[in-house]
Amino acid sequence: MPDSEAPIIEGVNLRKTYQLGRVRVPVLHGASISIKPREWVAILGASGSGKSTLLHILGGLDRPDTDGGDVMFKGTRVELDRGRTTNEYRNRSIGFVFQFYHLLPELDVLENAVLAKLIPRTGASGLFLLMVVLVGGLLGAGLGAIAAGAGSFEGFGLLPVEEQTDMRSLILALTGMVLGSATLIALVQLAQVLAIKQRSRSSGVATAAKTTLEEFGLGHRLHHRPRELSGGERQRVAIARALGNAPDVLLADEPTGNLDAQTGREILDLLKERHEAGLTIIMVTHDPKVAAYADRIVELEDGCIRT
Ligand SMILES: Nc1ncnc2c1ncn2[C@@H]1O[C@H](COP(=O)(O)OP(=O)(O)OP(=O)(O)O)[C@@H](O)[C@H]1O
Ligand SMILES: [Mg+2]
Repeated sequence: MPDSEAPIIEGVNLRKTYQLGRVRVPVLHGASISIKPREWVAILGASGSGKSTLLHILGGLDRPDTDGGDVMFKGTRVELDRGRTTNEYRNRSIGFVFQFYHLLPELDVLENAVLAKLIPRTGASGLFLLMVVLVGGLLGAGLGAIAAGAGSFEGFGLLPVEEQTDMRSLILALTGMVLGSATLIALVQLAQVLAIKQRSRSSGVATAAKTTLEEFGLGHRLHHRPRELSGGERQRVAIARALGNAPDVLLADEPTGNLDAQTGREILDLLKERHEAGLTIIMVTHDPKVAAYADRIVELEDGCIRT
């Protein structure tokens, strides 16, 4: 690739300090990294050197300190503190692969693989959730009040009959309000899960994922749950999921760290194929043999990148 080509993603002078109670844990001290399109870069570093932290910041899963540097994507600063914009960046431009797969156990292989495609461009807004709570609460309160009206007027024995009735109505209305809100939220969530399951089976969304899973040798496992798969198979599903939205950059955090050497090589060969087809990869590892698959190796040491 020509040296003059503009970077696709950059971390510029990134600083990150975690705060553990009163203890400050400085991790990144001005780390800068620049990756060209179609490059495969490995970030090597000792355990605890901040590799995952750096990867998470580059992918919008975490933020640097205030005024702690920038992430640039295709020449534009990524707004890492703007909920919806950050989500959009994370979901559309970046694919993540983690050491421990992070598949959803209650979804099957195909559903897991299409998950990224099913994330709405805009999440359920706070206003929508507030409406659900209010409507559920009002319905519940109404039903509680009706139940109070229909209930017997035998009192608690301590208060005059009118006050007993008032208090009973109030308690029933409040109970109904809480139950109503909770029930409506649960129903909305159930509807969302069912919609995801339904859409994941619809041809348009599922076709590309099925093709990728078949290419990865998982065509016969589409409706198996993650717990029924080997580690290597789970990682293939995770890679298929990460590629689901055709991301510009794949970020892989120790993608072979939980696998035996042979299975690890198979996963790296699979990444190599995708890389040769044009995928940009940033891969974190502490294993020089794994890093050797990359075009370029940089080291994270003392919170900075050494090239
Ligand atoms: N959420 C957090 N809160 C506090 N400290 C954290 C947090 N996440 C990471 N750290 C600390 O930051 C340092 C860097 O962590 P990080 O996970 O980035 O390292 P790493 O290089 O990926 O290590 P490994 O190779 O073991 O995965 C560690 O000392 C860790 O304890
Ligand atoms: Mg790590």
